[in-house]
Amino acid sequence: MSTDPITLYGGVTSRRVTTRDLQLAKDRSERWAMLTSYDMLSAQVFEAAGIPVLLVGDSAGNNVLGYADTVPVTVEDLLPMVRAVARSTARPLVVADLPFGSYQESPAQALRTAVRFLQSGAQAVKLEGGARVVPAVQLLVASGVPVMAHLGLTPQSVNVVGGYRVQGRGEAGEQLIADALALQEAGAFAVVLEVVPGELAERVTKELLIPTVGIGAGPSCDAQVLVWTDMAGLTPGPGPKFLKRYADLRGVLSGAASAYADDVREGRYPSAEHGYS
Ligand code: KIV
Repeated sequence: MSTDPITLYGGVTSRRVTTRDLQLAKDRSERWAMLTSYDMLSAQVFEAAGIPVLLVGDSAGNNVLGYADTVPVTVEDLLPMVRAVARSTARPLVVADLPFGSYQESPAQALRTAVRFLQSGAQAVKLEGGARVVPAVQLLVASGVPVMAHLGLTPQSVNVVGGYRVQGRGEAGEQLIADALALQEAGAFAVVLEVVPGELAERVTKELLIPTVGIGAGPSCDAQVLVWTDMAGLTPGPGPKFLKRYADLRGVLSGAASAYADDVREGRYPSAEHGYS
Protein backbone atom coordinates (compact mmCIF):
# COMPACT_ATOMS: atom_id res chain seq x y z
CA MET A 1 0.00 0.00 0.00
CA SER A 2 1.27 3.46 -0.87
CA THR A 3 1.90 5.66 2.13
CA ASP A 4 2.48 8.82 0.07
CA PRO A 5 0.75 11.72 1.76
CA ILE A 6 -2.54 12.66 0.15
CA THR A 7 -4.39 15.93 0.16
CA LEU A 8 -7.63 14.95 1.84
CA TYR A 9 -9.83 16.76 -0.66
CA GLY A 10 -7.33 16.76 -3.50
CA GLY A 11 -8.27 14.41 -6.30
CA VAL A 12 -8.64 10.70 -6.61
CA THR A 13 -6.49 8.23 -4.76
CA SER A 14 -6.76 4.50 -4.89
CA ARG A 15 -6.05 3.94 -1.24
CA ARG A 16 -7.88 4.55 2.00
CA VAL A 17 -7.25 7.62 4.09
CA THR A 18 -5.13 6.74 7.12
CA THR A 19 -4.74 8.27 10.55
CA ARG A 20 -1.34 9.50 9.33
CA ASP A 21 -3.07 11.47 6.57
CA LEU A 22 -5.24 13.14 9.20
CA GLN A 23 -2.17 14.05 11.25
CA LEU A 24 -0.44 15.47 8.16
CA ALA A 25 -3.60 17.48 7.41
CA LYS A 26 -3.39 19.04 10.88
CA ASP A 27 0.28 19.78 10.35
CA ARG A 28 -0.67 21.58 7.10
CA SER A 29 -3.65 23.34 8.80
CA GLU A 30 -5.96 21.60 6.32
CA ARG A 31 -9.49 21.10 7.68
CA TRP A 32 -11.60 18.06 6.94
CA ALA A 33 -15.16 16.88 7.40
CA MET A 34 -16.40 13.66 8.93
CA LEU A 35 -19.95 12.31 8.55
CA THR A 36 -21.73 9.41 10.11
CA SER A 37 -22.84 6.61 7.79
CA TYR A 38 -24.76 3.46 8.60
CA ASP A 39 -25.31 1.83 5.21
CA MET A 40 -24.04 1.21 1.70
CA LEU A 41 -25.87 3.96 -0.20
CA SER A 42 -25.04 6.85 2.11
CA ALA A 43 -21.42 5.63 2.35
CA GLN A 44 -21.10 5.57 -1.44
CA VAL A 45 -22.59 9.06 -1.78
CA PHE A 46 -20.28 10.48 0.90
CA GLU A 47 -17.23 8.80 -0.60
CA ALA A 48 -18.08 10.27 -4.01
CA ALA A 49 -18.52 13.67 -2.34
CA GLY A 50 -14.96 13.39 -0.99
CA ILE A 51 -15.69 12.92 2.70
CA PRO A 52 -12.42 11.47 4.04
CA VAL A 53 -13.70 9.91 7.29
CA LEU A 54 -16.94 7.99 7.87
CA LEU A 55 -18.10 7.22 11.39
CA VAL A 56 -20.40 4.28 11.94
CA GLY A 57 -21.71 5.99 15.03
CA ASP A 58 -23.87 4.66 17.81
CA SER A 59 -26.12 7.55 16.80
CA ALA A 60 -27.55 4.72 14.68
CA GLY A 61 -29.61 4.18 17.83
CA ASN A 62 -31.75 7.27 17.27
CA ASN A 63 -31.26 7.50 13.49
CA VAL A 64 -31.74 3.93 12.28
CA LEU A 65 -32.84 1.62 15.07
CA GLY A 66 -35.71 3.60 16.58
CA TYR A 67 -34.25 4.15 20.06
CA ALA A 68 -34.52 7.42 21.98
CA ASP A 69 -30.75 7.59 22.53
CA THR A 70 -27.51 5.65 22.04
CA VAL A 71 -27.59 3.69 25.30
CA PRO A 72 -29.44 0.58 24.00
CA VAL A 73 -27.16 0.15 20.95
CA THR A 74 -25.14 -3.07 20.93
CA VAL A 75 -22.08 -4.41 19.14
CA GLU A 76 -24.39 -6.76 17.21
CA ASP A 77 -26.40 -3.75 16.03
CA LEU A 78 -23.35 -1.93 14.68
CA LEU A 79 -21.30 -4.77 13.18
CA PRO A 80 -23.48 -5.22 10.04
CA MET A 81 -23.43 -1.46 9.50
CA VAL A 82 -19.64 -1.38 9.74
CA ARG A 83 -19.42 -4.25 7.25
CA ALA A 84 -21.75 -2.46 4.82
CA VAL A 85 -19.89 0.87 5.00
CA ALA A 86 -16.46 -0.75 4.70
CA ARG A 87 -17.50 -3.10 1.87
CA SER A 88 -19.04 -0.36 -0.22
CA THR A 89 -16.19 2.18 -0.02
CA ALA A 90 -12.53 2.21 -1.02
CA ARG A 91 -11.25 5.55 0.17
CA PRO A 92 -12.63 6.96 3.43
CA LEU A 93 -11.24 5.93 6.79
CA VAL A 94 -14.01 3.93 8.48
CA VAL A 95 -14.28 4.54 12.23
CA ALA A 96 -16.53 2.29 14.32
CA ASP A 97 -18.10 3.53 17.55
CA LEU A 98 -17.69 1.20 20.51
CA PRO A 99 -21.22 1.10 21.94
CA PHE A 100 -22.19 1.56 25.59
CA GLY A 101 -21.18 -1.42 27.72
CA SER A 102 -18.74 -2.83 25.19
CA TYR A 103 -15.53 -1.30 26.59
CA GLN A 104 -16.07 0.19 30.06
CA GLU A 105 -15.51 -3.04 32.02
CA SER A 106 -11.79 -3.36 31.34
CA PRO A 107 -9.11 -2.65 28.72
CA ALA A 108 -9.30 -6.35 27.78
CA GLN A 109 -13.02 -6.02 27.06
CA ALA A 110 -12.32 -2.90 24.97
CA LEU A 111 -9.71 -4.81 22.95
CA ARG A 112 -12.02 -7.79 22.37
CA THR A 113 -14.73 -5.46 21.08
CA ALA A 114 -12.36 -3.38 18.95
CA VAL A 115 -10.92 -6.50 17.32
CA ARG A 116 -14.42 -7.49 16.19
CA PHE A 117 -14.91 -4.11 14.56
CA LEU A 118 -11.53 -4.10 12.85
CA GLN A 119 -12.10 -7.64 11.62
CA SER A 120 -15.42 -6.42 10.19
CA GLY A 121 -13.74 -3.76 8.07
CA ALA A 122 -13.28 -0.67 10.27
CA GLN A 123 -9.82 0.85 10.36
CA ALA A 124 -10.27 2.59 13.72
CA VAL A 125 -12.60 2.77 16.70
CA LYS A 126 -14.05 5.62 18.73
CA LEU A 127 -14.82 5.53 22.43
CA GLU A 128 -16.18 8.06 24.90
CA GLY A 129 -14.53 9.33 28.08
CA GLY A 130 -11.46 10.99 29.59
CA ALA A 131 -8.89 9.76 32.12
CA ARG A 132 -11.14 6.77 32.88
CA VAL A 133 -10.57 5.23 29.43
CA VAL A 134 -6.82 5.97 29.18
CA PRO A 135 -5.78 2.38 30.10
CA ALA A 136 -8.12 1.04 27.40
CA VAL A 137 -6.73 3.48 24.82
CA GLN A 138 -3.17 2.46 25.73
CA LEU A 139 -3.92 -1.24 25.28
CA LEU A 140 -5.81 -0.70 22.02
CA VAL A 141 -3.07 1.42 20.47
CA ALA A 142 -0.35 -0.98 21.67
CA SER A 143 -2.35 -3.80 20.06
CA GLY A 144 -2.64 -2.03 16.70
CA VAL A 145 -6.06 -0.42 17.01
CA PRO A 146 -6.20 3.29 16.11
CA VAL A 147 -8.41 5.15 18.60
CA MET A 148 -10.47 8.30 18.19
CA ALA A 149 -11.34 9.72 21.60
CA HIS A 150 -14.57 11.60 22.45
CA LEU A 151 -14.88 14.31 25.12
CA GLY A 152 -17.42 16.93 26.18
CA LEU A 153 -20.99 15.80 25.73
CA THR A 154 -20.70 12.03 25.69
CA PRO A 155 -24.19 10.71 24.81
CA GLN A 156 -23.56 7.27 26.34
CA SER A 157 -23.42 9.02 29.76
CA VAL A 158 -26.69 10.90 29.27
CA ASN A 159 -28.19 9.20 32.31
CA VAL A 160 -25.37 10.45 34.54
CA VAL A 161 -25.04 13.89 33.01
CA GLY A 162 -28.83 14.32 33.11
CA GLY A 163 -29.43 15.60 29.59
CA TYR A 164 -27.80 17.05 26.50
CA ARG A 165 -26.25 20.33 27.56
CA VAL A 166 -23.01 22.24 27.01
CA GLN A 167 -20.07 20.60 28.78
CA GLY A 168 -16.69 21.94 29.87
CA ARG A 169 -17.73 25.25 31.39
CA GLY A 170 -15.51 26.71 34.17
CA GLU A 171 -13.36 24.18 36.02
CA ALA A 172 -14.72 21.36 33.93
CA GLY A 173 -12.90 23.01 31.02
CA GLU A 174 -9.52 22.54 32.74
CA GLN A 175 -10.43 18.88 33.36
CA LEU A 176 -11.35 18.47 29.70
CA ILE A 177 -7.96 19.87 28.61
CA ALA A 178 -6.19 17.49 31.02
CA ASP A 179 -8.26 14.58 29.65
CA ALA A 180 -7.46 15.53 26.05
CA LEU A 181 -3.74 15.67 26.80
CA ALA A 182 -3.90 12.31 28.62
CA LEU A 183 -5.71 10.71 25.67
CA GLN A 184 -3.13 12.10 23.24
CA GLU A 185 -0.36 10.76 25.49
CA ALA A 186 -2.14 7.36 25.53
CA GLY A 187 -1.94 7.28 21.73
CA ALA A 188 -5.33 8.49 20.47
CA PHE A 189 -5.05 9.78 16.88
CA ALA A 190 -7.85 12.36 17.20
CA VAL A 191 -10.34 13.70 19.75
CA VAL A 192 -14.01 14.49 19.13
CA LEU A 193 -15.15 17.53 21.12
CA GLU A 194 -18.94 17.52 21.40
CA VAL A 195 -20.94 20.56 22.54
CA VAL A 196 -18.23 22.45 24.39
CA PRO A 197 -17.62 26.23 24.39
CA GLY A 198 -15.82 27.42 21.26
CA GLU A 199 -13.02 29.06 23.27
CA LEU A 200 -12.32 25.80 25.08
CA ALA A 201 -12.25 23.86 21.80
CA GLU A 202 -9.84 26.46 20.43
CA ARG A 203 -7.52 26.01 23.43
CA VAL A 204 -7.62 22.22 23.11
CA THR A 205 -6.98 22.44 19.37
CA LYS A 206 -3.93 24.65 19.95
CA GLU A 207 -2.55 22.53 22.80
CA LEU A 208 -2.95 19.15 21.11
CA LEU A 209 -0.67 17.87 18.39
CA ILE A 210 -3.40 15.47 17.19
CA PRO A 211 -6.53 16.69 15.35
CA THR A 212 -9.68 17.79 17.16
CA VAL A 213 -13.03 17.00 15.54
CA GLY A 214 -15.78 19.39 16.62
CA ILE A 215 -19.53 19.01 16.81
CA GLY A 216 -21.14 22.04 18.42
CA ALA A 217 -17.63 23.12 19.45
CA GLY A 218 -17.11 26.16 17.25
CA PRO A 219 -15.01 26.88 14.19
CA SER A 220 -11.50 26.41 15.60
CA CYS A 221 -11.38 22.60 15.54
CA ASP A 222 -9.19 20.88 12.96
CA ALA A 223 -12.20 18.97 11.61
CA GLN A 224 -15.98 18.88 11.99
CA VAL A 225 -18.39 15.97 12.29
CA LEU A 226 -22.16 15.86 11.82
CA VAL A 227 -24.69 13.07 11.97
CA TRP A 228 -25.56 12.71 8.29
CA THR A 229 -29.32 12.61 8.74
CA ASP A 230 -29.09 15.96 10.59
CA MET A 231 -26.73 17.45 8.00
CA ALA A 232 -29.05 16.47 5.12
CA GLY A 233 -32.32 17.43 6.85
CA LEU A 234 -33.78 13.96 7.18
CA THR A 235 -34.30 14.19 10.94
CA PRO A 236 -37.30 16.31 12.03
CA GLY A 237 -37.29 19.65 13.81
CA PRO A 238 -34.82 22.49 13.74
CA GLY A 239 -32.24 20.52 15.75
CA PRO A 240 -29.58 22.13 17.94
CA LYS A 241 -28.41 25.70 17.21
CA PHE A 242 -25.00 24.57 16.00
CA LEU A 243 -26.54 22.39 13.29
CA LYS A 244 -26.52 23.49 9.65
CA ARG A 245 -28.91 21.56 7.44
CA TYR A 246 -27.52 21.36 3.92
CA ALA A 247 -30.68 19.91 2.36
CA ASP A 248 -34.31 19.16 3.14
CA LEU A 249 -34.24 15.42 2.54
CA ARG A 250 -37.27 14.90 4.76
CA GLY A 251 -39.30 17.26 2.58
CA VAL A 252 -38.00 15.75 -0.67
CA LEU A 253 -38.65 12.17 0.46
CA SER A 254 -42.05 12.97 1.88
CA GLY A 255 -43.02 14.77 -1.38
CA ALA A 256 -41.86 11.82 -3.46
CA ALA A 257 -43.75 9.28 -1.31
CA SER A 258 -46.96 11.36 -1.44
CA ALA A 259 -46.70 11.82 -5.23
CA TYR A 260 -46.17 8.06 -5.67
CA ALA A 261 -49.15 7.23 -3.44
CA ASP A 262 -51.34 9.74 -5.35
CA ASP A 263 -50.26 8.30 -8.72
CA VAL A 264 -51.07 4.75 -7.63
CA ARG A 265 -54.43 5.81 -6.19
CA GLU A 266 -55.36 7.74 -9.34
CA GLY A 267 -54.13 5.01 -11.72
CA ARG A 268 -51.32 7.20 -13.19
CA TYR A 269 -48.59 4.74 -12.22
CA PRO A 270 -47.64 2.40 -13.78
CA SER A 271 -48.60 3.71 -17.23
CA ALA A 272 -47.72 3.61 -20.92
CA GLU A 273 -44.28 5.13 -20.39
CA HIS A 274 -43.45 2.13 -18.19
CA GLY A 275 -44.35 -0.31 -20.94
CA TYR A 276 -48.07 -0.76 -20.19
CA SER A 277 -50.92 0.18 -22.47
O1 KIV B 1 -22.40 8.42 17.19
C1 KIV B 1 -22.16 9.52 16.68
O2 KIV B 1 -22.76 9.93 15.69
C2 KIV B 1 -21.13 10.35 17.28
C3 KIV B 1 -20.87 11.69 16.68
C4 KIV B 1 -21.91 12.66 17.08
C5 KIV B 1 -19.51 12.20 17.00
O3 KIV B 1 -20.53 9.95 18.22
